[in-house]
Amino acid sequence: MMNRSSFTSAHTTLTTPVSLARSNAQYAQLATQYDALTPRLEPLRLEAHALLGLRSGDTVMDVGCGTGKSLAALARAVGVGGHVIAVEPCAPMIAQARSRLIDGGDSANVQLIESQIEAVGAQVPARSVDAFLLMFTHDVLQSRAALDALLRVAKPGARFALAGGKYFRGPLALLNPWVQWRQRPYCTTFANYDAPWRDLFAIPGVTGTHWQPRYAGIAYIAGAVWRDEPIAETKGLNVA
Ligand SMILES: C[S@@+](CC[C@H](N)C(=O)[O-])C[C@H]1O[C@@H](n2cnc3c(N)ncnc32)[C@H](O)[C@@H]1O
Repeated sequence: MMNRSSFTSAHTTLTTPVSLARSNAQYAQLATQYDALTPRLEPLRLEAHALLGLRSGDTVMDVGCGTGKSLAALARAVGVGGHVIAVEPCAPMIAQARSRLIDGGDSANVQLIESQIEAVGAQVPARSVDAFLLMFTHDVLQSRAALDALLRVAKPGARFALAGGKYFRGPLALLNPWVQWRQRPYCTTFANYDAPWRDLFAIPGVTGTHWQPRYAGIAYIAGAVWRDEPIAETKGLNVA
């Protein structure tokens, strides 16, 4: 079992705070190539969609929707009476999502919001979202303000499906410098990269938590349910 303190000390320089400016710049460079660079994620994407347990009429939020690869499937799952809210701060990435929706004819019940999740504010009413997809959004999971923004709009009982990259554990941890190198274009911090779900799962009121490794341990899928606690109680948590 990996000793987390020795592990993190070896990667101290990479536990820098999340930087939206840097993330936007990185994804602006990647936007037109993103889909071609990420075909191997599709089985994990399908698994994350299934984990959301979407029902007809649900409101689902795709947090950091990127080029919109999940949007058509989410729109179909919630049906015409449902609502998909896609939040994405990087203009060239959301432009790809917009084109994809128009080309696919899937835009009827999809709302695109060009914003970081921390700043959606009144565009999404409090307690209005049934389910959240966080697909390869490591930076979002490491932002206290982002997690609070999600919980503000979550209905009691809201489901979370998370999927993304993580460090190897055990003997394969020797490869983690390569993991960092490989994943550097896609996130601005490697804080909690051994357990990206850690801060969300530690929030009082986040229950039913579970995770499993995927792709030999270099990726994960995780889920949780929001049982509703005063958001004030989540402030200041810094979970080891
Ligand atoms: C690796 S991409 C994943 C895109 C998409 N979820 C997918 O499955 O293909 C991460 C996305 O998160 C977005 N992102 C980064 N910080 C964010 C924030 N604070 N709020 C919302 N989205 C953010 C990035 O702009 C980028 O498009």
